[in-house]
Amino acid sequence: MHLPGGAVSADLRHKALVTEQRRPYTVPLLERAISTGIDNEGAKLDPVMPRWRMSKSDLHDVALYVYNRLK
Ligand code: HEM
Repeated sequence: MHLPGGAVSADLRHKALVTEQRRPYTVPLLERAISTGIDNEGAKLDPVMPRWRMSKSDLHDVALYVYNRLK
């Protein structure tokens, strides 16, 4: 999806995040991306991607959900 300002939202299917990645996302790497905006390669995500604040347990649940999405 194209967002105002020119950013394009990410493909969050398992295939795009894991199978097709040179350095695949893991659940801890997804937790880092969602909470700090650092991607699987260590690069900063576009600032329109919110840096989500939530409990460790909620963050883990969200990361696990994203990891297993459309597996
Ligand atoms: C449940 C809420 C969300 C989750 C779990 C989530 C998760 C993620 C993850 C894991 C990535 C990294 C994907 C990659 O490295 O290719 C990402 C990227 C991104 N997200 Fe989100 N996101 C959420 C909501 C949003 C919202 C509300 C926006 C903006 C309206 C947004 C905008 C973006 C953009 C633009 C990127 C790509 C950044 C880049 O390529 O530099 N996300 N998101």
